[in-house]
Amino acid sequence: MILSIESSCDDSAIAITEIATKKLLFHKKISQELEHSVYGGVVPELAARLHAEALPKILEECRAYFSDLKAVAVTTTPGLSVTLVEGVIMAKAVSIALNIPIIGVNHLIGHIYSLFIEKEAVFPLTVLLVSGGHTQVMEVKSLEEIKTVAKSMDDSFGESFDKVAKMMHLGYPGGPVIEKLAKEGDRKKYNFTVPLHQSPLIAFSYSGLKNSVRLAVEDANENDYKDIAASFEHIAVSHIIQKLKKYFKDVTPKTFAIVGGASANLYLRSAIEELLKPYDAALLLSELKYCSDNAAMIGRVAVEMYEKGIFSSIDELEICPKSVI
Ligand code: KG4
Ligand code: ZN
Repeated sequence: MILSIESSCDDSAIAITEIATKKLLFHKKISQELEHSVYGGVVPELAARLHAEALPKILEECRAYFSDLKAVAVTTTPGLSVTLVEGVIMAKAVSIALNIPIIGVNHLIGHIYSLFIEKEAVFPLTVLLVSGGHTQVMEVKSLEEIKTVAKSMDDSFGESFDKVAKMMHLGYPGGPVIEKLAKEGDRKKYNFTVPLHQSPLIAFSYSGLKNSVRLAVEDANENDYKDIAASFEHIAVSHIIQKLKKYFKDVTPKTFAIVGGASANLYLRSAIEELLKPYDAALLLSELKYCSDNAAMIGRVAVEMYEKGIFSSIDELEICPKSVI
């Protein structure tokens, strides 16, 4: 079995995965959403302190599996440096105490493998990752062959929802609350511009849209918030659809997947379903409980790495706040 640890942002999570069957035997996540909500976003120092409290509590619950562990895995990149180290320190301690190898996992690859919890992986895939830190399209041929073909030049999709929610004093995370509010609103009421719609670039940008929403919020009263949320969500999703359409002119999608915390957004999911129809492409989605950050996806990647013999020594294992993918 492999014990995997996730602490890249505001979720403390540990999983136990059986290597031979890829079966998830244990998973527990303690989320810090409530604690960060009053600040309208994640406060790194607070997040680190909460991981230091939560991770040992979860580890304690895994005691029964210790004698069966063949490796310990941990998210090393990307993420907040002060929270990544919490998981890495724990992983190193477990590795030393149990005399088992350590596996450093890329969180973005984790999101890709959230599609394959308790399943065999199927490649090639075109993957849209939408989370709080990333908006990117990747061509994935295997664990080791992942190429980013489009990414955000500034804010991410999920982050823009968080910031819009903050402007409306709706707490953190903003995605679910803005999606709910948008359902009651008029998507055409506010005429926000689709980012980069004149640009030939296949890339994403959310900071301009965020600023247009800020101006609208400043001019509005609370009764208008649902229409602002609906119009914002419509444009945020249209931006992704426009750029994917452009990308599909050169690369026809065969199997397409949406992963990451914001892949829970149903308006985005249905817009992508619509987009894929003419191509007859299959759409893969993670189970809702594995869309947001979790340790099951880290454990699933770790099983692949274990089978390929990809380990790190304790001295080599380092955190890297920015991902190289
Ligand atoms: O993958 P994740 O749990 O953490 C990161 O790796 O960043 O994603 C969290 C992000 C947050 O920005 C959150 O607001 C966004 O995903 N999110 C959503 C929805 N649910 C979560 N964004 C839009 N619509 C949603 N339904
Ligand atoms: Zn994530």
